[in-house]
Amino acid sequence: MSDDDVTIMEVDEVEPATSKSAVTVSLKTAQLPWIEKYRPQKFSDIVGNEDTVSRLAVFAKAGNAPNIIIAGPPGVGKTTTILCLARALLGLAFKDAVLELNASNDRGIDVVRNKIKMFAQQKVTLPPGRHKIVILDEADSMTDGAQQALRRTMELYSSTTRFALAANNSEKIIEPIQSRCAVLRYSRLNDSQILAKVVEVCGKEGLSYTEEGLSAVVFTAQGDLRAALNNLQSTAQGFGHVSPDHVFKVCDEPHPMLIRNMLESCLKRDIHEAYKVIAKLVKLGYAAEDIVGNIFRVAKTLDAPDDAKLTLIREIGLTHMRVADGLASPLQLAALLARMCHGSVTSKG
Ligand SMILES: Nc1ncnc2c1ncn2[C@@H]1O[C@H](COP(=O)(O)OP(=O)(O)O)[C@@H](O)[C@H]1O
Ligand SMILES: [Mg+2]
Repeated sequence: MSDDDVTIMEVDEVEPATSKSAVTVSLKTAQLPWIEKYRPQKFSDIVGNEDTVSRLAVFAKAGNAPNIIIAGPPGVGKTTTILCLARALLGLAFKDAVLELNASNDRGIDVVRNKIKMFAQQKVTLPPGRHKIVILDEADSMTDGAQQALRRTMELYSSTTRFALAANNSEKIIEPIQSRCAVLRYSRLNDSQILAKVVEVCGKEGLSYTEEGLSAVVFTAQGDLRAALNNLQSTAQGFGHVSPDHVFKVCDEPHPMLIRNMLESCLKRDIHEAYKVIAKLVKLGYAAEDIVGNIFRVAKTLDAPDDAKLTLIREIGLTHMRVADGLASPLQLAALLARMCHGSVTSKG
């Protein structure tokens, strides 16, 4: 899924006459996606990428922020950071002095020429040293033409307006724009950072959970905090309790326990047992790419000697490459198992 921000849908609230107010309140909060409910409002609440965030906090204090591009994988806080920066810089003027355009807005050449230009020309009273801010979220989805139109606008209005761009892939932003901006890179959040946030949200929501359930949420998120919160909320709403079984059911991922057993069978050279798992997963309809990806993630955490693990991971990597090239047949997966069984023997010497 792409890095689309979730817009809160407005739902008509029909209150049954008999409902008690407490029930209505819990219904209302239940409707709010947790990723929005728990979106950090200030820099200090942003998890991870401390160096970059603290640099931005300095800009926010000093006032004269440069144009910035924040590049990084989805769900690590790029949009959140830019909004925090704008809020810190502009305070109450945020409403009038920020133009936010994301991938769901039309951002072709015309919009850049007209809407952004009009905004840049508008007069807004701001504290000294502050500028209006144009936020272009998911800027890598803008066409080259629109980006070209932007570069001139950026320069013309540099005395009044700053641009803040967020992108998954900074290479899709044309060079001239990159050279006019400070490029900041965000990396994936690590598992303990995600876990800490998930535990915090569980506490605030009063969820019942098991430790393993939370590890499962972290495992499925793969460094994407948005995915973690979404998966947590879906599990909470679907089952009311966060356990690994519930999480993997909601996320529709093969259970890592199955895959772990399969890898252990490989290490024991038992290809028949190992193949049973693959056959089951293929029958359940999982795509070869998802299966291989999952095998890799489980193999990393496997409790085995390093050399055996490295051999497994090499074979998994090679198979992943073939699958990504289009050879996604069960035969490739069977071949992977055969090689893993064989490899684990040779690595034992
Ligand atoms: N570093 C972070 N610290 C705290 N919450 C985060 C962080 N990254 C993501 N989130 C959570 O995920 C949601 C989506 O984050 P967002 O900033 O939109 O990610 P993206 O990097 O894809 O723009 C936020 O509303 C917040 O709840
Ligand atoms: Mg974003």
